[in-house]
Formats: sequence, C-alpha cells, structure tokens
Amino acid sequence: MAHAVELKNITKRFGHVVANDKVDLYVDNGVIMSLLGENGSGKTTLMNMLAGIYYPDEGQIFVNGKEVSIRSPKDAYENGIGMIHQHFKLIDVFTAAQNVALGIEDGKYDLKKVAAGVKEISDKYGFGIDPNKKIYEMSVSEKQTVEIIKVLYRGANILILDEPTAVLTPQETSKLFTILKAMREDGKAIILITHKLNEVMEVSDVVAVLRKGQHIRTVRTAETDPQQLTEMMVGRAVTLNIDRMDPVNPKPRLTVAGLTCTDSEGVSKLEDVGFIAYGGEILGIAGIAGSGQKELLEAIAGLRHISSGSIIYTPEGKNPQELVGKTPMEIKDAGVALAFVPEDRLGMGLVGGMGMTENMMLRTWNKGRGIFVNRKEPEKVAEQVYEFLEVVTPSIDYPVRKLSGGNVQKVLVGREIASSPSVLMSAYAVRGLDINTSYIIYNLMEGQKAKGVAVIFVGEDLDVLLQLADRILVLCDGKVSGIVDARTTTKEEVGLLMTQVGGAAGKGAK
Ligand SMILES: Nc1ncnc2c1ncn2[C@@H]1O[C@H](COP(=O)(O)OP(=O)(O)OP(=O)(O)O)[C@@H](O)[C@H]1O
Ligand SMILES: [Mg+2]
Repeated sequence: MAHAVELKNITKRFGHVVANDKVDLYVDNGVIMSLLGENGSGKTTLMNMLAGIYYPDEGQIFVNGKEVSIRSPKDAYENGIGMIHQHFKLIDVFTAAQNVALGIEDGKYDLKKVAAGVKEISDKYGFGIDPNKKIYEMSVSEKQTVEIIKVLYRGANILILDEPTAVLTPQETSKLFTILKAMREDGKAIILITHKLNEVMEVSDVVAVLRKGQHIRTVRTAETDPQQLTEMMVGRAVTLNIDRMDPVNPKPRLTVAGLTCTDSEGVSKLEDVGFIAYGGEILGIAGIAGSGQKELLEAIAGLRHISSGSIIYTPEGKNPQELVGKTPMEIKDAGVALAFVPEDRLGMGLVGGMGMTENMMLRTWNKGRGIFVNRKEPEKVAEQVYEFLEVVTPSIDYPVRKLSGGNVQKVLVGREIASSPSVLMSAYAVRGLDINTSYIIYNLMEGQKAKGVAVIFVGEDLDVLLQLADRILVLCDGKVSGIVDARTTTKEEVGLLMTQVGGAAGKGAK
C-alpha cells in the first residue's frame, strides 16, 4: 500500500543555509512517527513544506502514492495534511467555532453548522471543547486542542504537531497522547516533533532522526533507546550527566519572608512564602503548573505587585537591601537576573529583527548612555553565547527571528547568564531545547553556582531537579509545602508535597 505521505530528495535552502538536504522520509497510515533532531536540524522547515508554508527547492512530495505540489496551506488541507504549529495561529477575540470557520471557502460558512461540527469532533475524541468559548478564555492546552480540531474539521488525514508538549503539563500531555493514539486507531498518520525522549519512547511507533538538515535514519521505537537516539542526533557519543558539586561557601543572598501577592482580580497567587536562597547553591522550585512558580520569580524581579512581605537581597560584600518597592530595572541592575522562557519565546524582550549582538545590548547596555554605545562588549558576549551554547546561526548579526525556536531560546538564556548576575532565576530554561543543549544549560547553572551565584531554577522535570538542585522548594497552590534536601529526598516525597499544602516537611525553611 502507498505511504500516507512520502518526501523524496527534498532540499530547502535559506540563502547559504541548507535547512534540509536531500531528505527521504515517509510515514504510513495508522502510525505515529516522532521526528527528532537537535535545535536547528531542520524539523520545522521540513514539516512546513508539507503544510504549504515553504516550497522545496528540490525534490518531490507524494500523498497516497500520488505526486502533489503544495504551494499554500489550502493545498495542504486539500491533500489531507494539517499542521499544529509551535505558535498558535488563533484569533483571541473569536470563539473556537469562529476560528475553525476562518479561511473556509472565503468566509462563506454557516457558523451553526461549523459549531455543530466542532462539537461532534470534540465529543468523538473527548476533547471537551465548548465551540462558543472565546480563545482568550482558554488555557494553553485548550487552545492547542482548538488547533487540532481546526485541522480535523478540514478533514486532515495526516497530522503534524510541532513540539505540542513543550507548553503542556504532564497531565495535559498524557491526555494529548491518548487522543493521538485514538487518531492512530482511526488510521491517521501522525508526525510528532518533540525533544523529550521519554515521550518518543512512550507514544511513537517509529522515530526519524534529522541531523544538520539530513535524514540520518528511521528506526522502530521498540528497537532503540534514548542513548542510541541521542547519539544519532548529535553524531557522536555523548554523556548526559550533571556534575553536581556540594554548595560552595553558601551565604544568604536572598531572604524572602511572608511574601503575599494577589492578581488584579484579587485572586491570591502567593501566600506567606518564605525561604532563603544562598549564593553557591542551586535552589530548585517544583510544583504542579500554575502553583505560583512564575509569580514568585516575577515578584522577586519587581514585575508583580506585592501585597505584603519582604525580599532582602545581600550582594557579595555589600549591605543588605530591600527589593520590595524597587523597579524591575533597579533590581536587574543590582544583579538579580531573570531568564523566563514564555510560551512565546520572542515575547521575552528579544527583538526578532535584530541580531544576537544587538539583543545582548538590550539587556546589559541599556542604561541610557545614548545612541553611541560601544558595540565591542556586547559583541564579545554574543560571541561567547554563540560558541558555548553552539547557537546555529550564520552569524551573530543574523536576525534572531530567522533562527530555529530552540536557538532563539539559547540566545535568551545565554544573555541573562552573560550579565554576570549574583542571583540567577530561570523558569523553564530548557523548554524546547534539544537534550544535549539542555544538559549544557544544566551544567551552565552548575558553573554559575561554582562562581557563588544564587541560582533559583524552576523546572518541570522532577528527575532533573533531583540531580541538579541542592535543595528543592515545593510550591502548592501559592504556598510553600516543603523545602527538602535534593540529595536525600525522593521523587515520591516531592510529588506528594506538590499536591499537599503543609505536608510532612511543613514549613521546613532552613
Ligand atoms: N525563514 C527562515 N529564514 C532563514 N533561515 C531559516 C528560516 N527558517 C529556518 N531557517 C534556518 O533553517 C535551519 C533549520 O531550522 P528549523 O527551524 O527547521 O530547525 P528545527 O529542527 O525545527 O529546530 P528547533 O528544534 O530549534 O525548533 C536553521 O539553521 C534556521 O536558522
Ligand atoms: Mg522547530
């Protein structure tokens, strides 16, 4: 039987960059294929050619054995191909049904009919989406579901999902996988891009590996393992481990007490949070998504209104100072850095049209010295970030917007580290990064700790937190449910604290 979709000898160039190099790849109906590769290896570009976003420079595409020419998203839909992109393309003020209706037959649609169709698909797969709910009222996971419904409504038989789990909680991810498996039973062909090898092993039947734009191999999931996959991706033997040392001369750097925050609607976000972050230590922050992790870092960075409490900052060799009441810029300049990776990576103070050097200038050289700023320093920093994090870019002055998603993120995290902070806070620093680069970041955090920096690391992967952190502070519903020693605790203990305020470890602030 013909393959659901087949790529033959596909090449795509952007100027001198060869994003895809003579790729041969196919996927069959009733199969989930993972597409794996380092940041910048060409995964998104390859799939965008199936989705009608890009057109190949060379090669052929076959759908059900028939050669096709896909020149627009409409062509893709007509060939039964639908792609769920990393950045959602929904209109916030419209309902789910209106978004699904958009682009159908030049606006000539019957909204009632579309809404009924949305409901039918939602019921069939157990999505639980209300067709009349507005996008801005939805969670990230619901928005993603609307994107999936959108492609199913248009009759997609081949579904491509570009890093769908990067922004989902573990619970939402398992729900998504249940849905993908149901679609596989329905005979659909599914291509899943993810950097998480445990997900690859869990959900896919086959794994295709790209490296530097080339298709290296496709293997059956049952016949491979994470170590082999990593080596295929990177092209050499790699060891993935974190060299955790004992805290180096720990000194209180940030003393948080009684921190309480409510949002603009008066909903409590943080309640009576207290802890000490030490220089020379990594303090991991764990919690179910939305337990106050983001709010805590924002509050310390001065980005959130604080109802009560204090945050005493003691820089090396200087007097303690109160951060509550200071502006974000004052806090940043005092040496408290925040690398926060939002769902929209370009949202975090990077300017897409500028290159790495200019983006470095925005962070560290923004003290209003006029337009005649010195480019030498930021250029040096950009070069360091480029080399150390192996940013895939033709040059450090290449527009950041044209880099692959993971490489944009390397620039973001690298910039904060390069500002030589004395407190480094990061949230979701490895979201969307390939496994090798994730370990580079973990070891960078270790390096910061060795320099005496107080590192506060909000992570999603408990296994990593247990290996990386010295202590783990667990948040539950905006409160500290425990602070545990990462060397002696267990995943079960942390898991329990995540769901139970005032667990056994109580307010164990040391
Ligand atoms: N519109 C564009 N203009 C110029 N170069 C581009 C463009 N899109 C992608 N590239 C380049 O093509 C290469 C492959 O990028 P792509 O986004 O496909 O990688 P990826 O495997 O999806 O990476 P990630 O895991 O980081 O998302 C990169 O070097 C990237 O900089
Ligand atoms: Mg990508």
